[in-house]
Amino acid sequence: MNEDSTAPRGTVKPLDGESAHLAIERHLRDLVASRPVGDRLPSTRTLVLEHAASPLTVQRALQRLVLEGLIETRPGAGSFVARRHSVHRADFGWQTTALGAARTGADAIGTAMANAGPGVIALHSGYPAEELLPTRLVRSALVRAARTNTAVERAPISGLPELRSWFAAELAPAGASVAAPPAADDVVITPGGQSALSSIFRALANPGDAIVMESPTYWGAMAAARQAGLRIVPIARGTTAPTAADLDDALGASGARLFYAQPHFANPTGALWSSSERSAITAVLHARGAYLIEDDWAHDFGIDADAAPLAADDADGHIVYVRSLTKSLSPAVRVAAVVARGPALARIQVDRTVDDLYVSGILQAAAVDVLTDPGWRSHLSRLRGSLRGRRDEMARQVRGQLGADALELVPRGGLNLWVRTNDGVDVAGLARRAAAEGVLFSPGGDWFPAEPTGSFFRLNYSRARPELFEPAVGILARLLA
Ligand SMILES: Cc1ncc(COP(=O)(O)O)c(C=O)c1O
Repeated sequence: MNEDSTAPRGTVKPLDGESAHLAIERHLRDLVASRPVGDRLPSTRTLVLEHAASPLTVQRALQRLVLEGLIETRPGAGSFVARRHSVHRADFGWQTTALGAARTGADAIGTAMANAGPGVIALHSGYPAEELLPTRLVRSALVRAARTNTAVERAPISGLPELRSWFAAELAPAGASVAAPPAADDVVITPGGQSALSSIFRALANPGDAIVMESPTYWGAMAAARQAGLRIVPIARGTTAPTAADLDDALGASGARLFYAQPHFANPTGALWSSSERSAITAVLHARGAYLIEDDWAHDFGIDADAAPLAADDADGHIVYVRSLTKSLSPAVRVAAVVARGPALARIQVDRTVDDLYVSGILQAAAVDVLTDPGWRSHLSRLRGSLRGRRDEMARQVRGQLGADALELVPRGGLNLWVRTNDGVDVAGLARRAAAEGVLFSPGGDWFPAEPTGSFFRLNYSRARPELFEPAVGILARLLA
Protein backbone atom coordinates (compact mmCIF):
# COMPACT_ATOMS: atom_id res chain seq x y z
CA MET A 1 0.00 0.00 0.00
CA ASN A 2 1.19 3.51 -0.70
CA GLU A 3 2.16 5.02 2.65
CA ASP A 4 1.37 8.51 1.33
CA SER A 5 -2.31 7.78 0.98
CA THR A 6 -2.54 6.95 4.70
CA ALA A 7 -0.31 9.70 6.08
CA PRO A 8 -2.49 11.82 8.36
CA ARG A 9 -2.06 15.56 7.98
CA GLY A 10 -0.33 17.48 10.77
CA THR A 11 -0.10 14.52 13.18
CA VAL A 12 3.47 15.21 14.30
CA LYS A 13 3.40 18.39 16.36
CA PRO A 14 6.39 20.63 17.02
CA LEU A 15 7.45 21.15 20.64
CA ASP A 16 6.81 24.55 22.16
CA GLY A 17 8.72 27.21 20.22
CA GLU A 18 10.23 24.59 17.89
CA SER A 19 10.31 25.45 14.15
CA ALA A 20 8.83 23.01 11.64
CA HIS A 21 12.33 22.43 10.31
CA LEU A 22 13.68 21.36 13.73
CA ALA A 23 10.61 19.27 14.45
CA ILE A 24 11.13 17.28 11.25
CA GLU A 25 14.82 16.92 12.04
CA ARG A 26 14.01 15.59 15.53
CA HIS A 27 11.43 13.20 14.12
CA LEU A 28 13.94 11.90 11.56
CA ARG A 29 16.65 11.49 14.21
CA ASP A 30 14.26 9.41 16.33
CA LEU A 31 13.41 7.26 13.33
CA VAL A 32 17.09 6.76 12.43
CA ALA A 33 17.90 5.81 16.05
CA SER A 34 15.09 3.28 16.25
CA ARG A 35 15.38 1.59 12.87
CA PRO A 36 17.90 -0.81 11.35
CA VAL A 37 20.50 0.25 8.78
CA GLY A 38 19.08 0.36 5.26
CA ASP A 39 15.49 0.79 6.47
CA ARG A 40 13.43 3.07 4.24
CA LEU A 41 12.34 6.32 5.85
CA PRO A 42 9.01 8.03 5.14
CA SER A 43 8.85 9.76 1.77
CA THR A 44 9.06 13.53 1.43
CA ARG A 45 5.35 13.59 0.71
CA THR A 46 4.52 11.68 3.86
CA LEU A 47 6.67 14.02 5.94
CA VAL A 48 5.05 17.03 4.29
CA LEU A 49 1.65 15.70 5.30
CA GLU A 50 2.59 14.55 8.79
CA HIS A 51 4.21 17.85 9.67
CA ALA A 52 1.93 20.09 7.60
CA ALA A 53 5.18 21.61 6.30
CA SER A 54 6.39 22.72 2.86
CA PRO A 55 8.43 20.32 0.67
CA LEU A 56 11.36 22.77 0.90
CA THR A 57 11.33 22.62 4.72
CA VAL A 58 11.26 18.81 4.61
CA GLN A 59 14.12 18.77 2.10
CA ARG A 60 16.22 21.04 4.27
CA ALA A 61 15.77 18.74 7.25
CA LEU A 62 16.59 15.66 5.16
CA GLN A 63 19.62 17.38 3.68
CA ARG A 64 20.90 18.22 7.13
CA LEU A 65 20.82 14.56 8.19
CA VAL A 66 22.39 13.51 4.89
CA LEU A 67 25.27 15.92 5.60
CA GLU A 68 25.65 14.36 9.05
CA GLY A 69 25.85 10.91 7.46
CA LEU A 70 22.72 9.64 9.23
CA ILE A 71 20.60 9.30 6.11
CA GLU A 72 21.36 8.15 2.58
CA THR A 73 19.24 9.25 -0.35
CA ARG A 74 18.99 7.21 -3.51
CA PRO A 75 17.55 9.07 -6.51
CA GLY A 76 14.14 7.69 -7.39
CA ALA A 77 14.11 5.27 -4.43
CA GLY A 78 13.87 7.50 -1.35
CA SER A 79 15.76 8.04 1.91
CA PHE A 80 17.27 5.28 4.04
CA VAL A 81 18.97 4.84 7.40
CA ALA A 82 22.68 5.14 6.61
CA ARG A 83 25.32 2.59 7.53
CA ARG A 84 26.64 3.30 11.03
CA HIS A 85 30.28 4.20 11.33
CA SER A 86 32.29 1.34 12.71
CA VAL A 87 33.62 1.71 16.25
CA HIS A 88 36.96 0.30 15.11
CA ARG A 89 39.50 3.10 14.75
CA ALA A 90 41.96 2.24 12.01
CA ASP A 91 45.50 3.58 12.14
CA PHE A 92 46.18 5.26 8.80
CA GLY A 93 49.00 7.38 10.19
CA TRP A 94 51.60 5.32 8.28
CA GLN A 95 49.99 6.51 5.02
CA THR A 96 50.86 10.13 5.79
CA THR A 97 54.54 9.19 5.83
CA ALA A 98 54.21 6.89 2.85
CA LEU A 99 52.37 9.37 0.63
CA GLY A 100 53.97 12.70 1.54
CA ALA A 101 52.30 15.94 0.42
CA ALA A 102 49.34 15.63 -1.97
CA ARG A 103 49.72 17.01 -5.49
CA THR A 104 46.04 17.93 -5.51
CA GLY A 105 43.87 17.88 -2.38
CA ALA A 106 40.20 16.93 -2.15
CA ASP A 107 39.39 20.64 -2.50
CA ALA A 108 40.60 20.37 -6.12
CA ILE A 109 37.19 18.88 -6.95
CA GLY A 110 34.80 21.74 -7.59
CA THR A 111 31.66 22.11 -5.52
CA ALA A 112 29.85 21.89 -8.87
CA MET A 113 30.23 18.09 -8.57
CA ALA A 114 28.37 17.86 -5.23
CA ASN A 115 25.36 15.53 -5.32
CA ALA A 116 22.13 17.36 -4.63
CA GLY A 117 19.65 15.63 -2.37
CA PRO A 118 16.02 15.42 -3.41
CA GLY A 119 14.16 18.72 -3.37
CA VAL A 120 17.30 20.83 -3.26
CA ILE A 121 17.42 23.71 -5.76
CA ALA A 122 20.57 22.85 -7.69
CA LEU A 123 22.15 25.95 -9.19
CA HIS A 124 25.64 24.57 -8.65
CA SER A 125 25.80 21.73 -11.14
CA GLY A 126 26.89 22.04 -14.75
CA TYR A 127 24.76 19.14 -15.97
CA PRO A 128 21.52 20.13 -17.73
CA ALA A 129 18.10 18.87 -16.67
CA GLU A 130 16.71 15.85 -18.49
CA GLU A 131 14.18 18.03 -20.33
CA LEU A 132 17.12 19.78 -22.08
CA LEU A 133 18.58 16.50 -23.35
CA PRO A 134 17.52 14.52 -26.44
CA THR A 135 16.27 11.83 -24.06
CA ARG A 136 14.05 9.93 -26.50
CA LEU A 137 16.76 9.82 -29.17
CA VAL A 138 19.35 8.64 -26.65
CA ARG A 139 17.17 5.85 -25.28
CA SER A 140 16.35 4.43 -28.70
CA ALA A 141 19.95 4.85 -29.90
CA LEU A 142 21.17 2.81 -26.93
CA VAL A 143 18.66 0.07 -27.69
CA ARG A 144 19.75 -0.02 -31.34
CA ALA A 145 23.44 0.06 -30.40
CA ALA A 146 22.90 -2.91 -28.09
CA ARG A 147 21.91 -4.97 -31.12
CA THR A 148 25.19 -4.25 -32.95
CA ASN A 149 28.60 -5.83 -32.42
CA THR A 150 29.77 -2.68 -30.66
CA ALA A 151 28.04 -4.19 -27.61
CA VAL A 152 30.56 -7.03 -27.46
CA GLU A 153 33.67 -5.94 -29.39
CA ARG A 154 36.70 -3.89 -28.48
CA ALA A 155 36.53 -0.48 -30.14
CA PRO A 156 39.50 0.93 -32.12
CA ILE A 157 41.90 2.92 -29.92
CA SER A 158 41.20 6.23 -31.69
CA GLY A 159 37.45 5.66 -31.72
CA LEU A 160 34.77 4.53 -34.19
CA PRO A 161 35.52 5.88 -37.70
CA GLU A 162 31.97 7.25 -38.13
CA LEU A 163 32.22 9.23 -34.90
CA ARG A 164 35.68 10.59 -35.74
CA SER A 165 34.34 11.68 -39.14
CA TRP A 166 31.41 13.42 -37.51
CA PHE A 167 33.62 15.47 -35.18
CA ALA A 168 35.95 16.37 -38.07
CA ALA A 169 33.06 17.38 -40.32
CA GLU A 170 31.73 19.68 -37.61
CA LEU A 171 35.02 21.58 -37.86
CA ALA A 172 34.98 21.76 -41.64
CA PRO A 173 31.77 23.54 -42.58
CA ALA A 174 31.21 24.39 -46.23
CA GLY A 175 33.35 27.37 -47.20
CA ALA A 176 35.98 26.88 -44.46
CA SER A 177 38.98 29.09 -45.12
CA VAL A 178 41.64 26.44 -44.50
CA ALA A 179 42.98 24.42 -47.43
CA ALA A 180 43.22 21.19 -45.41
CA PRO A 181 40.63 21.29 -42.60
CA PRO A 182 40.86 18.68 -39.82
CA ALA A 183 40.00 15.17 -41.02
CA ALA A 184 38.77 12.04 -39.26
CA ASP A 185 42.38 10.91 -38.81
CA ASP A 186 43.04 14.00 -36.68
CA VAL A 187 40.38 12.99 -34.14
CA VAL A 188 40.83 10.92 -30.98
CA ILE A 189 37.67 9.90 -29.13
CA THR A 190 37.85 10.22 -25.33
CA PRO A 191 35.48 9.33 -22.50
CA GLY A 192 34.54 12.98 -21.82
CA GLY A 193 36.19 16.37 -21.98
CA GLN A 194 37.85 16.01 -18.60
CA SER A 195 39.95 13.01 -19.59
CA ALA A 196 40.77 14.80 -22.86
CA LEU A 197 42.21 17.73 -20.88
CA SER A 198 44.18 15.43 -18.56
CA SER A 199 45.71 13.63 -21.54
CA ILE A 200 46.57 16.83 -23.37
CA PHE A 201 48.29 18.32 -20.34
CA ARG A 202 50.26 15.13 -19.67
CA ALA A 203 51.15 14.58 -23.31
CA LEU A 204 52.18 18.11 -24.31
CA ALA A 205 54.06 19.25 -21.18
CA ASN A 206 56.35 17.81 -18.54
CA PRO A 207 55.93 18.01 -14.76
CA GLY A 208 57.22 21.39 -13.59
CA ASP A 209 56.32 23.14 -16.87
CA ALA A 210 54.09 26.18 -16.90
CA ILE A 211 50.65 26.40 -18.54
CA VAL A 212 48.85 29.70 -19.09
CA MET A 213 45.15 29.88 -18.23
CA GLU A 214 42.49 32.55 -18.22
CA SER A 215 41.45 33.59 -14.73
CA PRO A 216 38.79 32.74 -13.68
CA THR A 217 38.53 29.43 -15.50
CA TYR A 218 37.14 25.90 -15.29
CA TRP A 219 38.16 24.27 -11.99
CA GLY A 220 38.55 20.87 -13.68
CA ALA A 221 41.18 22.20 -16.08
CA MET A 222 43.15 23.61 -13.15
CA ALA A 223 42.85 20.33 -11.26
CA ALA A 224 43.98 18.30 -14.29
CA ALA A 225 46.97 20.60 -14.86
CA ARG A 226 48.02 20.35 -11.22
CA GLN A 227 47.59 16.59 -11.28
CA ALA A 228 49.93 16.53 -14.30
CA GLY A 229 52.48 18.47 -12.22
CA LEU A 230 52.06 21.70 -14.22
CA ARG A 231 52.37 25.21 -12.82
CA ILE A 232 49.41 27.44 -13.68
CA VAL A 233 50.21 30.96 -14.86
CA PRO A 234 46.96 32.97 -14.72
CA ILE A 235 46.10 35.88 -16.98
CA ALA A 236 43.14 38.06 -16.16
CA ARG A 237 39.96 37.96 -18.18
CA GLY A 238 36.83 39.91 -17.49
CA THR A 239 33.84 39.78 -19.74
CA THR A 240 36.12 39.70 -22.78
CA ALA A 241 39.19 37.71 -23.87
CA PRO A 242 42.49 38.18 -22.08
CA THR A 243 44.63 40.74 -23.88
CA ALA A 244 47.18 39.56 -26.42
CA ALA A 245 49.82 41.57 -24.55
CA ASP A 246 49.10 39.72 -21.27
CA LEU A 247 49.25 36.39 -23.09
CA ASP A 248 52.51 37.31 -24.76
CA ASP A 249 54.06 38.39 -21.43
CA ALA A 250 52.86 35.26 -19.64
CA LEU A 251 54.19 32.90 -22.34
CA GLY A 252 57.47 34.79 -22.54
CA ALA A 253 58.10 35.06 -18.79
CA SER A 254 57.07 31.50 -17.89
CA GLY A 255 58.36 29.65 -20.94
CA ALA A 256 54.93 27.98 -21.23
CA ARG A 257 54.00 26.48 -24.59
CA LEU A 258 50.41 25.73 -23.62
CA PHE A 259 47.53 28.16 -23.27
CA TYR A 260 44.26 26.60 -22.06
CA ALA A 261 41.19 28.73 -22.84
CA GLN A 262 37.48 28.68 -23.58
CA PRO A 263 36.86 31.18 -26.37
CA HIS A 264 33.08 30.55 -26.42
CA PHE A 265 30.71 31.15 -23.49
CA ALA A 266 33.48 30.46 -21.01
CA ASN A 267 32.75 28.58 -17.85
CA PRO A 268 32.24 30.40 -15.48
CA THR A 269 32.11 33.96 -16.91
CA GLY A 270 30.14 33.33 -20.12
CA ALA A 271 32.60 35.51 -22.08
CA LEU A 272 32.93 35.15 -25.85
CA TRP A 273 36.06 36.22 -27.73
CA SER A 274 35.47 38.75 -30.50
CA SER A 275 37.00 38.23 -33.93
CA SER A 276 39.71 40.84 -33.34
CA GLU A 277 40.60 39.21 -30.01
CA ARG A 278 40.80 35.82 -31.75
CA SER A 279 43.19 37.17 -34.40
CA ALA A 280 45.40 38.94 -31.86
CA ILE A 281 45.65 35.82 -29.69
CA THR A 282 46.35 33.56 -32.67
CA ALA A 283 49.17 35.88 -33.77
CA VAL A 284 50.80 35.58 -30.31
CA LEU A 285 50.54 31.78 -30.41
CA HIS A 286 52.26 31.69 -33.81
CA ALA A 287 54.99 34.11 -32.75
CA ARG A 288 55.68 32.18 -29.53
CA GLY A 289 55.45 28.69 -31.02
CA ALA A 290 52.69 27.82 -28.55
CA TYR A 291 49.50 25.76 -28.54
CA LEU A 292 46.00 26.92 -27.72
CA ILE A 293 44.01 24.20 -26.01
CA GLU A 294 40.58 25.28 -27.16
CA ASP A 295 37.92 23.85 -24.84
CA ASP A 296 34.69 24.16 -26.81
CA TRP A 297 32.60 22.69 -23.99
CA ALA A 298 29.58 24.91 -24.79
CA HIS A 299 29.52 24.36 -28.55
CA ASP A 300 25.89 23.24 -28.48
CA PHE A 301 24.78 25.93 -26.03
CA GLY A 302 24.85 29.04 -28.22
CA ILE A 303 21.83 31.25 -27.50
CA ASP A 304 22.32 34.60 -29.27
CA ALA A 305 25.55 33.58 -31.00
CA ASP A 306 27.15 30.41 -32.34
CA ALA A 307 30.46 28.99 -31.23
CA ALA A 308 32.86 29.24 -34.19
CA PRO A 309 35.87 27.11 -33.24
CA LEU A 310 39.29 28.63 -33.87
CA ALA A 311 40.41 25.10 -34.74
CA ALA A 312 38.39 25.30 -37.98
CA ASP A 313 40.91 27.85 -39.30
CA ASP A 314 44.06 26.24 -37.95
CA ALA A 315 46.39 25.03 -40.68
CA ASP A 316 49.57 24.30 -38.70
CA GLY A 317 48.42 22.47 -35.62
CA HIS A 318 48.64 25.33 -33.12
CA ILE A 319 45.19 24.49 -31.81
CA VAL A 320 44.33 21.39 -29.85
CA TYR A 321 40.57 21.29 -29.83
CA VAL A 322 38.28 19.59 -27.28
CA ARG A 323 34.59 19.06 -27.81
CA SER A 324 32.42 17.05 -25.47
CA LEU A 325 28.92 15.64 -25.89
CA THR A 326 28.51 14.94 -22.18
CA LYS A 327 26.26 17.89 -21.50
CA SER A 328 24.41 18.20 -24.79
CA LEU A 329 23.79 14.55 -25.70
CA SER A 330 23.75 12.76 -22.35
CA PRO A 331 25.93 12.74 -19.24
CA ALA A 332 25.62 8.94 -19.40
CA VAL A 333 26.89 8.65 -22.99
CA ARG A 334 30.30 9.90 -22.04
CA VAL A 335 31.90 10.75 -25.33
CA ALA A 336 34.16 13.61 -26.39
CA ALA A 337 36.88 14.24 -28.96
CA VAL A 338 40.30 15.81 -29.21
CA VAL A 339 41.26 17.20 -32.61
CA ALA A 340 44.98 17.85 -33.07
CA ARG A 341 47.64 17.71 -35.78
CA GLY A 342 51.17 16.44 -36.17
CA PRO A 343 53.29 15.08 -33.30
CA ALA A 344 50.90 16.58 -30.73
CA LEU A 345 48.15 14.27 -32.00
CA ALA A 346 50.45 11.25 -31.79
CA ARG A 347 51.46 12.04 -28.20
CA ILE A 348 47.87 12.58 -27.09
CA GLN A 349 46.85 9.29 -28.70
CA VAL A 350 49.61 7.45 -26.82
CA ASP A 351 48.55 9.00 -23.51
CA ARG A 352 44.90 8.09 -24.08
CA THR A 353 45.75 4.49 -24.94
CA VAL A 354 48.10 4.09 -21.98
CA ASP A 355 45.45 5.60 -19.73
CA ASP A 356 42.44 3.46 -20.64
CA LEU A 357 43.10 1.71 -23.97
CA TYR A 358 39.83 2.62 -25.71
CA VAL A 359 36.37 4.10 -25.20
CA SER A 360 33.30 1.85 -24.94
CA GLY A 361 32.14 1.09 -28.49
CA ILE A 362 28.47 0.81 -27.62
CA LEU A 363 28.46 4.35 -26.21
CA GLN A 364 30.20 5.65 -29.33
CA ALA A 365 27.71 3.83 -31.56
CA ALA A 366 24.81 5.31 -29.64
CA ALA A 367 26.34 8.77 -29.98
CA VAL A 368 26.69 8.37 -33.77
CA ASP A 369 23.09 7.21 -33.97
CA VAL A 370 21.83 10.32 -32.12
CA LEU A 371 24.09 12.76 -33.99
CA THR A 372 23.07 11.48 -37.43
CA ASP A 373 19.36 11.41 -36.63
CA PRO A 374 17.43 14.36 -38.12
CA GLY A 375 16.00 14.82 -34.61
CA TRP A 376 19.41 15.99 -33.34
CA ARG A 377 19.23 19.29 -35.27
CA SER A 378 15.68 19.95 -34.14
CA HIS A 379 16.70 19.12 -30.59
CA LEU A 380 19.49 21.72 -30.78
CA SER A 381 17.16 24.44 -31.98
CA ARG A 382 14.61 23.64 -29.25
CA LEU A 383 17.42 23.64 -26.72
CA ARG A 384 18.46 27.14 -27.79
CA GLY A 385 14.95 28.44 -27.06
CA SER A 386 14.78 26.71 -23.68
CA LEU A 387 18.19 28.03 -22.65
CA ARG A 388 17.23 31.54 -23.72
CA GLY A 389 14.12 31.42 -21.51
CA ARG A 390 16.07 30.06 -18.55
CA ARG A 391 18.97 32.48 -18.94
CA ASP A 392 16.64 35.49 -19.21
CA GLU A 393 14.60 34.44 -16.19
CA MET A 394 17.70 33.88 -14.05
CA ALA A 395 19.18 37.22 -15.19
CA ARG A 396 15.88 38.94 -14.34
CA GLN A 397 15.86 37.44 -10.86
CA VAL A 398 19.51 38.26 -10.21
CA ARG A 399 19.17 41.86 -11.36
CA GLY A 400 15.82 42.30 -9.64
CA GLN A 401 16.75 40.76 -6.29
CA LEU A 402 20.54 41.19 -6.04
CA GLY A 403 20.89 44.51 -7.87
CA ALA A 404 21.54 45.61 -11.43
CA ASP A 405 25.31 45.58 -10.92
CA ALA A 406 25.35 41.94 -9.78
CA LEU A 407 25.58 40.91 -13.40
CA GLU A 408 28.20 42.47 -15.62
CA LEU A 409 27.42 40.21 -18.57
CA VAL A 410 24.37 38.35 -19.80
CA PRO A 411 26.21 35.62 -21.70
CA ARG A 412 25.29 34.95 -25.33
CA GLY A 413 25.46 31.23 -24.66
CA GLY A 414 26.49 28.60 -22.14
CA LEU A 415 24.74 27.52 -18.98
CA ASN A 416 25.85 29.93 -16.28
CA LEU A 417 25.61 33.43 -14.88
CA TRP A 418 28.69 34.83 -13.16
CA VAL A 419 27.42 37.00 -10.32
CA ARG A 420 29.37 39.58 -8.38
CA THR A 421 28.38 40.73 -4.93
CA ASN A 422 29.89 43.29 -2.55
CA ASP A 423 33.61 42.95 -1.90
CA GLY A 424 34.32 41.32 1.41
CA VAL A 425 31.30 38.99 1.32
CA ASP A 426 32.42 35.50 2.41
CA VAL A 427 30.98 33.63 -0.57
CA ALA A 428 32.02 30.18 0.69
CA GLY A 429 30.18 30.93 3.95
CA LEU A 430 27.20 32.17 1.97
CA ALA A 431 27.21 28.88 0.02
CA ARG A 432 27.12 26.88 3.27
CA ARG A 433 24.23 28.93 4.65
CA ALA A 434 22.34 28.70 1.36
CA ALA A 435 22.87 24.92 1.30
CA ALA A 436 21.30 24.69 4.76
CA GLU A 437 18.26 26.41 3.23
CA GLY A 438 18.13 24.04 0.27
CA VAL A 439 19.89 26.13 -2.40
CA LEU A 440 23.21 25.02 -3.89
CA PHE A 441 25.49 27.27 -5.96
CA SER A 442 29.15 27.37 -6.81
CA PRO A 443 31.32 29.90 -4.93
CA GLY A 444 33.77 31.98 -6.98
CA GLY A 445 36.84 30.68 -5.18
CA ASP A 446 36.55 27.38 -7.07
CA TRP A 447 37.19 29.14 -10.36
CA PHE A 448 40.31 31.22 -9.68
CA PRO A 449 43.82 29.80 -10.06
CA ALA A 450 44.96 32.26 -7.37
CA GLU A 451 43.11 34.49 -4.90
CA PRO A 452 39.64 35.55 -6.08
CA THR A 453 39.69 39.18 -7.20
CA GLY A 454 36.25 39.89 -5.78
CA SER A 455 33.22 38.17 -4.26
CA PHE A 456 31.84 36.14 -7.15
CA PHE A 457 29.64 33.10 -7.53
CA ARG A 458 28.27 31.03 -10.39
CA LEU A 459 24.59 30.26 -10.88
CA ASN A 460 23.75 27.54 -13.36
CA TYR A 461 20.41 28.01 -15.11
CA SER A 462 20.21 24.65 -16.90
CA ARG A 463 19.29 22.26 -14.13
CA ALA A 464 16.71 23.52 -11.62
CA ARG A 465 13.19 24.24 -12.81
CA PRO A 466 12.91 27.91 -13.91
CA GLU A 467 9.99 28.60 -11.58
CA LEU A 468 12.39 27.91 -8.69
CA PHE A 469 14.82 30.65 -9.76
CA GLU A 470 12.78 33.32 -8.00
CA PRO A 471 12.65 31.64 -4.53
CA ALA A 472 16.26 30.49 -4.84
CA VAL A 473 17.63 33.94 -5.66
CA GLY A 474 15.30 35.30 -2.97
CA ILE A 475 17.05 33.11 -0.38
CA LEU A 476 20.44 34.39 -1.57
CA ALA A 477 19.19 37.99 -1.41
CA ARG A 478 17.96 37.48 2.15
CA LEU A 479 21.23 35.86 3.27
CA LEU A 480 23.21 38.67 1.65
CA ALA A 481 21.09 41.43 3.16
C1 LIG B 1 34.75 24.11 -19.38
C2 LIG B 1 34.62 22.64 -19.22
N1 LIG B 1 35.49 21.85 -19.85
C3 LIG B 1 35.43 20.51 -19.73
C4 LIG B 1 34.48 19.91 -18.93
C5 LIG B 1 34.47 18.43 -18.79
O1 LIG B 1 33.59 17.89 -19.68
P1 LIG B 1 33.06 16.41 -19.56
O2 LIG B 1 31.86 16.46 -18.66
O3 LIG B 1 32.77 16.00 -20.94
O4 LIG B 1 34.17 15.58 -18.97
C6 LIG B 1 33.55 20.69 -18.26
C7 LIG B 1 32.56 20.08 -17.39
O5 LIG B 1 31.92 20.70 -16.59
C8 LIG B 1 33.63 22.10 -18.41
O6 LIG B 1 32.77 22.89 -17.77
